[in-house]
Amino acid sequence: MRVLVTYGSKRGGTEGIARQVAETLRVEGLDVELRPPGDIDDVSAYDAVIVGGALYANRWFRLARRFVHRHAQKLRERPVWFFSSGPLDGSAEQGEIAPTSQVQALMKQVGARGHMTFGGRLEKDAKGFIAHAMARTHAGDWRDSGHIQQWARSVAAQLRPGREGRPTPVESGPELQLH
Ligand SMILES: Cc1cc2nc3c(=O)[nH]c(=O)nc-3n(C[C@H](O)[C@H](O)[C@H](O)COP(=O)(O)O)c2cc1C
Repeated sequence: MRVLVTYGSKRGGTEGIARQVAETLRVEGLDVELRPPGDIDDVSAYDAVIVGGALYANRWFRLARRFVHRHAQKLRERPVWFFSSGPLDGSAEQGEIAPTSQVQALMKQVGARGHMTFGGRLEKDAKGFIAHAMARTHAGDWRDSGHIQQWARSVAAQLRPGREGRPTPVESGPELQLH
């Protein structure tokens, strides 16, 4: 089972989540490639694909959107999961946040099996006029390793036929670091 994990990340926070998803899937015994979307010409070599997108004004960062549009036909033929990142507060840990309408449309386009919203990160010295202004009040890292690992384990369980329903305790497995 070869799995592609890819991401549209403007400032690196979503890339860090994608890395942790990939590491967790590897620990779960899957053959995983973590690659930026621009590196991928064809998804035919993969049995399953996970796409993460950074949210900007309720829309996925363009590299993630572009990846989905470009590979839509082949993505429809294999299991696909999406994740979004992310709210700059604790809301993603207080209850499941539904995908935005744009992300829902992308999910529909490829028949994505599931979606999760994770908290985001904004650095104090974020570049860009709006990001810099936002950082004055919203800088911080709300990415939650436990949540990310738990979700990645649930995807791994769905990718292993016959092992659905296997308990996936949050505490198990090695401690993984977010970068
Ligand atoms: C200008 C701007 C707009 C944002 N809009 C949203 C949004 O609509 N929804 C949301 O949940 N997070 C929003 N965020 C937070 C980002 O999604 C968060 O910082 C995320 O971790 C960025 O990912 P990246 O580092 O991979 O680019 C916004 C951040 C900035 C700077």
